[in-house]
Amino acid sequence: MNRRVHIQTMGCQMNVHDSARMEDLLAPMGYEPWDSPRGADLIIVNTCAVREKAEDKVYSYLGRLAEIKARRPDLLIAVAGCVAQARGAEILTRAPAVDMVIGTHAMARVAQVVAERVDTGRPVVDTALGDTLPLAPLPRKRERISAFVTIMSGCDNFCSYCVVPHVRGREISRPPEEILAEVRALADQGVKELTLLGQNVNSYGKKEGMPDFVELLDQVHGVSGIQRLRFVTSHPKDLSPALVDAFSRLDKLCGRVHLPVQSGSDRVLAAMNRRYTVGQYLEKLSALRRVREGMAVTTDIIVGFPGETRAEFQQTLHLVAEGDFDGVFSFKYSDRPYTAASGFPDKISEAEKSRRLNELIELANEIGLRKNRALEGTVCTVLVEGASRKDEREASGRCPDNRTVNFPAENARQLVGTFVEVRIERGNAHSLWGRPAAGPDRTRAQEVTHAA
Ligand code: 5AD
Ligand code: SF4
Repeated sequence: MNRRVHIQTMGCQMNVHDSARMEDLLAPMGYEPWDSPRGADLIIVNTCAVREKAEDKVYSYLGRLAEIKARRPDLLIAVAGCVAQARGAEILTRAPAVDMVIGTHAMARVAQVVAERVDTGRPVVDTALGDTLPLAPLPRKRERISAFVTIMSGCDNFCSYCVVPHVRGREISRPPEEILAEVRALADQGVKELTLLGQNVNSYGKKEGMPDFVELLDQVHGVSGIQRLRFVTSHPKDLSPALVDAFSRLDKLCGRVHLPVQSGSDRVLAAMNRRYTVGQYLEKLSALRRVREGMAVTTDIIVGFPGETRAEFQQTLHLVAEGDFDGVFSFKYSDRPYTAASGFPDKISEAEKSRRLNELIELANEIGLRKNRALEGTVCTVLVEGASRKDEREASGRCPDNRTVNFPAENARQLVGTFVEVRIERGNAHSLWGRPAAGPDRTRAQEVTHAA
């Protein structure tokens, strides 16, 4: 019998990847992926617990699903991922329409959980954490151009504000042979761009005594067909000189690093348990920019951490200006279950957090716009992803530094997966606009391609 599963994915790339894996695992049970909650027999909400707002979104979505279920009692609803792991059976009390709670590691057992729910007719809660990563998925057809490959998951750092180590468990790395087999299969399928994924990729392989992250990068870099290589996320304390050096050796490695700093105050960084100082962070930042001209660095900032004074927040603004970041993701601090910071005194009011957030966003946008404008007149190699969302007559893709570029194209869909040299004519706040570079201005193009 053919049944339909709709997976609603919230949160990070890890969740996107996990959702795809669940679809693979449910296929042998006769579930086909379905784009909308309407008409689905099973709806899985793959959740994010990293900030309070993300968790609120889960419960309001579940409220809407409860209305659908009131009309169609046969509908099965599952909550998976980080909120499932954090809250467990509590979810059944708060949202009684839910049939299954599937934790971060239990997602590998999604088929068994669904079978158990169907057999027993009773709610199932599976939040057991194991010490191995669930099996790698088979390569999927829809990953044609760009794919994510999980190399490790979990986190051992215990930053005081962060729920991740509590919901994703300890760091576990996948064996390199398994990763390489997946990468080769993706390359054979025509995938050109690869992003290696992990909560803290720099500690890849360390505790298993496997090749380290840089060695893994070297091996993946050697797989033919893969033309662009990226990774997320790095902890600044673990960003090694060997990794910085990799940017000078490996030309497929794209010149973009996401390096979350979180605060510009040494006192706050210590309270966050980040284990680096602002000075040490800035040193790593300049090392990265020295090794690759035009290196794009993005960061995360939390404003209103418990006890953060106005002066400490000013230090953050200072750091953001000095860091000259190509992108800043800023968040208001929120208490998360199990974390040390949720018990810290001197919480900052919502109003003050919002004020700080707005100030920060304004500064970051100013810098972002200036940096994008500075690219006007340069040529970059765009890997085309599709038609632009705003205008069907434009194609949209990314530069090596991951900036989005739109350019006029009659045949945007036919260009998908190809590389087009685009001369940037306009730098906007969050994207670039240009035209295909007609002239043979190869030197400039080459230079920018390599640098970016
Ligand atoms: N409150 C606000 N932001 C948080 N982040 C993680 N935990 C919290 C929290 N409790 C942010 C950090 C991290 C990003 C993924 O989310 O900046 O880098
Ligand atoms: Fe959370 Fe810190 Fe681990 Fe990142 S490094 S996932 S912020 S605990």
